[in-house]
Amino acid sequence: MRQAGRYLPEYRALRQKVDFLTLCKTPELAAEATLQPVTRLGVDAAILFADILLPLEAMGAELEFVRGDGPTFPRPVRRREDIAGLRLPDVEESLGYVFAALRLVRRELAGKVPVIGFGGTPWTLAAYLVEGGGSRHFEHLLAWSYGDPEGLALLLDRIADTSLAYLLGQLNAGAQALQLFDTWGGLLDAERWRSLALPPLRKVVDGLRGKAPLIYYIHGGSHLLDALADLPVEVLSVDWRLPLGRVRRLAGGKVLQGNLDPAALLAPRGEIERRVAALLAEGAGGGHIVNLGHGILPMTAVDSARAFVESAQRLSAQPAAPSNSSAKERRAAVTSGASGAAP
Ligand code: CP3
Repeated sequence: MRQAGRYLPEYRALRQKVDFLTLCKTPELAAEATLQPVTRLGVDAAILFADILLPLEAMGAELEFVRGDGPTFPRPVRRREDIAGLRLPDVEESLGYVFAALRLVRRELAGKVPVIGFGGTPWTLAAYLVEGGGSRHFEHLLAWSYGDPEGLALLLDRIADTSLAYLLGQLNAGAQALQLFDTWGGLLDAERWRSLALPPLRKVVDGLRGKAPLIYYIHGGSHLLDALADLPVEVLSVDWRLPLGRVRRLAGGKVLQGNLDPAALLAPRGEIERRVAALLAEGAGGGHIVNLGHGILPMTAVDSARAFVESAQRLSAQPAAPSNSSAKERRAAVTSGASGAAP
């Protein structure tokens, strides 16, 4: 998940100097923000500092980050006719700053830990673009999905084309794995997820398959596990509400990633350690990348984030008492945040 952010004093210092989009678009600063959690927490992977919404801006949608309000699209795309205003961008030209940041990160890390690139799934990106920002009910998106599903499919397909080019660009610039965030995939029941969200997602996944390990993150997706078992990705990442043992039974042999409740890092250190031990036991029986179940919360104490990473690394190096799986089977790595890296 998200591991950089406002809980880190050095991130707040960067944000004192520049706004969020300028930070994303200045490769030296984005590289610095990427490395902050690696240095501070000792996570086992770096997560590129960027945002899932940047490719929508590259398609021609105006994007603003208003302090306190999160992301906003002042001119949302809500009907078939609006799609004509979006282009298939030349990603080197419009998103080259992300690739430049990745190259800098690879150079600075010099192989110490791998770098994970990422993007949103077409469905989740469309959710923000259609709604005009975050939303409680995503009514405009859902109204479109019932009223003109073919029209919405055109938008999703355009977003898939841009996403694929963008993610291939990240691989080209040195990303060693890619995570796809489907934060709003859980809005759909399984049948509608298969008919609406899956086709454009498959387009992206099929274009990336075999080029790097793919991690798919679903939030609120307990009803989608059957459908997800067939998705050809190496790693399935879930939020904290789902017990990993249950996911393991349904997920068809995939490595699992997650899924400590980010709010658990607001607990005292002893409780964090107990929760991490329980998480490792729950994740036993196959590959497990220890992570949070969503992005790290801004009020998290840095020491608590570090306690999470340290206890995950220490406990996963020992045989787990409650299960009889081997250390190799449990091969846990810690990345924090929502998807990767420990925070
Ligand atoms: O670990 C890292 O380096 C993080 C890189 C990263 C960011 N966004 C930077 C960011 C990642 C992996 C994301 C993913 C992302 N962005 C998602 C998918 C994961 C999830 O959280 O569900 C989504 C939905 C977004 C869109 C987005 N960006 C929202 C809704 C917000 C506002 C939320 C908030 O906490 O204010 C952002 C802003 C954002 N993206 C921040 C960061 C560090 C906070 C910006 C700041 O205040 O400086």
